Amino acid sequence: MSSDLLRIGIAGSGFAGRFHHKNLRGLPAATVGVTSARAESRNAFAAEFGVRAYESVEAMLPDIDVLDICTPPSSHAAYIRAAAAAGKHVIVEKPFHGFFGSPLKHSKEEMLAAIAEELRDLRGVVAKSGILLGYAENYIYAPSIQRERQILEHTKAQILRMVAEESHSGSHSPVYGIWSEQGGGSLIGKGCHPLGGVLYLKRKEGMARRGTPIRPVAVSCRTHAITKEKAFEDRGYLRTTYHDTEDYAFLHVVFDDGMVADVMTSELVLGGVYDYVEVFANNHRTRCHIQPVRVVDLYSPDKKEFAGMDLMEKISSNEGWIPAYPEFGWSNGQFYEMHDFVNSMRAGREPECNLDLAIDITLAIYAGYVSADRKGTEVPVPGI
Ligand SMILES: NC(=O)c1ccc[n+]([C@@H]2O[C@H](COP(=O)([O-])OP(=O)(O)OC[C@H]3O[C@@H](n4cnc5c(N)ncnc54)[C@H](O)[C@@H]3O)[C@@H](O)[C@H]2O)c1
Repeated sequence: MSSDLLRIGIAGSGFAGRFHHKNLRGLPAATVGVTSARAESRNAFAAEFGVRAYESVEAMLPDIDVLDICTPPSSHAAYIRAAAAAGKHVIVEKPFHGFFGSPLKHSKEEMLAAIAEELRDLRGVVAKSGILLGYAENYIYAPSIQRERQILEHTKAQILRMVAEESHSGSHSPVYGIWSEQGGGSLIGKGCHPLGGVLYLKRKEGMARRGTPIRPVAVSCRTHAITKEKAFEDRGYLRTTYHDTEDYAFLHVVFDDGMVADVMTSELVLGGVYDYVEVFANNHRTRCHIQPVRVVDLYSPDKKEFAGMDLMEKISSNEGWIPAYPEFGWSNGQFYEMHDFVNSMRAGREPECNLDLAIDITLAIYAGYVSADRKGTEVPVPGI
C-alpha cells in the first residue's frame, strides 16, 4: 500500500461500514482497520476485505488518519471526541447526534436544551483540535442536488418553498424504533436526510446571493404513531415494531429570509425507498429525484433470479418491473460523499457537508420534537 494513501479506520462493520468501504474504490485512500462491538462481526469484515480488526476505536486511532464512524447514533459523539483528542479527522454517519434518554422520563424541551449544549461543546472540541469533520449526509452529494446547487449559484435564484421526503418501511436494524438508541423515530432516522437537503440548498442560495448562509429560524411539526392506532389494519407488509417512537412526521421549516420548506418522512411507504426534494424558485422549478431514479427499468418473472443483488433498497421483492439502481449509492450520493471526504481531507479543506450543517439539522429536528409535543405550535430553532 502506498504511504501516500489516506488511512481510514472504520467503526461499525454493518450496513453503512460496508458501503463506506466499498465506495473508497479508485480514491487515494484505503481502509486499514475496522472495529465494532462484536468480535465476530469485525473479524468477518476484516477477513472479507483484507484489513486489520481492532478491539476498540482507541486501539485503532494510532494507526489511522481518519476515523469513519458507522456505528449507531448513540455512540457518534463519544467517538468524535476520541478522534479529536487523537488529532484524527472524522467522517460520521447520519443522524449526527441525538438525545438518548427515554421520552417517558425527559421532556422534549429538556432534550432540545441538552442537545444544544452538547452540540456547542462538540463544536468547540472539533475547532480546538483542528481536525476536519465530514458529515455523511448523502443527499448533499446526490447528483440531482448538486445540479440544483449549480443552478442556484449560476442564476442567483431565490428558493421560495421546497417539499422533500424520505420514506420507506422501517430499517434492518433491530434497535430502530427505540428512542434511547436512535434519539427519536422517523423524524431523526429518516427525516434528517431530506431536511439536510433543504437546509443545504438554502445555505448555498444564501452564499450565492448575500455571502452568508440562509439558516432555519423556526419549525412547526406533527408526529404520529400510525401503526399503533387502534384502527390500523396490519396486512403484514409494513414493519410495525416501533417501541416508543413516531412512524410519521411532518416538519415545516421557516428560514431567516421568510421562505419555507416542508419535510415529510414515514415508515408507511411500500415499494422501496421514496426520496425526493422539489424546489420552487423565483426563476425555475426542479424535482430532484434521489431514489428511485428511472435509469434502469429491470424486469424479472421470478424473484429468485436476482436473489442477493443490491438492485433497489428496501424493496420487498425483485419480481416484476423495478427501477433498479445503475450502481449502488450513485443517485443518492453515497458514492460521491466519500470522494469529497477523501479529497478535502487530503487537501486540508472543509468538506462540502460539514459540522455547521450537521448542527443545524440536529437543532431543527429537536425543535421539531418540541413543536410536535405542542401539537404543531411554532418553535424557534436555537442558534448556538
Ligand atoms: N446514509 C445512509 O443512507 C445510511 C444507511 C444506513 C445506515 N446509516 C447510518 O449508519 C450508522 C450505522 O447503521 P447500520 O445500518 O450500518 O447499522 P448496523 O446495525 O448494520 O451496523 C452497526 C455496526 O456497529 C457496531 N456497533 C454497535 N455499537 C457499537 C459501538 N458502541 N462501538 C463500536 N461498534 C458498535 C455493530 O456491532 C455493527 O457492526 C447509523 O448511524 C445509521 O443511521 C446511514
